[in-house]
Amino acid sequence: MPISTTSTSRIRKAVFPVAGFGTRFLPATKAQPKEMLPVVDKPLIQYAVEEAYAAGIREMIFVTGRNKRAIEDHYDTAYELESQLEASGKTALLEIARSVVPDDMTCSYVRQPRMLGLGHAVLCAEHLVGNEPFAVLLADDLMVGPEDGEPVLAQMVHAFAEIGRSLLAVQEVPPEHVSRYGIVAGEAAGDSLTRVNRMVEKPKPELAPSRLGVAGRYILTPAVFDEIRSQPRGAGGEIQLTDGIAALLKKQAVYAYAYKGTRYDCGSKEGFLQATVELALAHPEVGPEFRAYLKSLEL
Ligand code: G1P
Repeated sequence: MPISTTSTSRIRKAVFPVAGFGTRFLPATKAQPKEMLPVVDKPLIQYAVEEAYAAGIREMIFVTGRNKRAIEDHYDTAYELESQLEASGKTALLEIARSVVPDDMTCSYVRQPRMLGLGHAVLCAEHLVGNEPFAVLLADDLMVGPEDGEPVLAQMVHAFAEIGRSLLAVQEVPPEHVSRYGIVAGEAAGDSLTRVNRMVEKPKPELAPSRLGVAGRYILTPAVFDEIRSQPRGAGGEIQLTDGIAALLKKQAVYAYAYKGTRYDCGSKEGFLQATVELALAHPEVGPEFRAYLKSLEL
C-alpha cells in the first residue's frame, strides 16, 4: 500500500531527537548520553519509547550524535548479559533485559552531524519518516498519564485520529517559566484543544503571548519538513522546531492539546529530582520502603 493512503490518521513512527550534549547535567553527561540517566531503574529514553509503544507506534527513529552509542546498545540484544542470566536461571531479570525491545518494534538511527537545533534534528529524520504524520518525543520530558487514564502520547494519537492536524502537548506554566519553553496562543477549539495562531520560542515573560507552554510531545504532519527547511536560524542561533511550526500554522491548522497527566522536566535538576522521588514512591518494589524512609526524615 502506498504510504500516503495508510497515513491519514494512524501514527506509525516516532522521532526521538537525542543528539544534544546535556550540558545542564554535567559532569554526569560528560561521557554518557543524558537520555540514559535513570529515573529509579529505567533510563529516560526508555520511558519515552514505552510511551510511544503504548500509543501503538512500532517504528522508533533516533536522531543521535557522537557519544550516544549507549542508546543504540540499549536497544540492541545484550548477548553476553542474556546468556549469563539464562545460564544462572535468573528468568525475571532476563525478561526485564529483553522487554526493552519488544519483537514487533523496529529501531532506526540517523546522525545529526552538527548541533544546529531541534528543528534541524527533526529534519535529519525526514527520509525515514517519509510523507506521513509522525510523533516527536523529547525524552527529557518524562510524562506520566493519569492513574485511571491513557499515557499522554496515546491521548494525542486519539485526538489526531479525530482532527488529522498537527498537535502540540501543552500545559499552563508559571509566568517565571515561560522563557524555558515554546509558548503558544490561540482560540479554544473544543475539549482540550486550542487552535494555535501564535507560537514563540522561549519568550521573555513580558513578551509571552500566553502561559501555555509546549511539553516535549508533538504529532506533526509531514508538511512541517518544508517549513523547517525554509527557516533561518532562530533563538540561540539554532534551527528551531518552534519556528517551523509557527510557519506551518499559517498554511495548515495546528492545535495545542491540553493533556491529562504530569510532566516532569527532567532537563532541569529540580524536575529530575521530582520525577525520581515521585516515581520511586509509586514503584511496586521500592515504593513502600522509600515512603517510610522519606517520612522518617526530619525536613
Ligand atoms: C524544546 C523546545 C521548546 C519546548 C521544550 C519542551 O526546548 O524548543 O519549544 O517547549 O523543548 O521541553 P529545550 O528543552 O530543548 O530547550
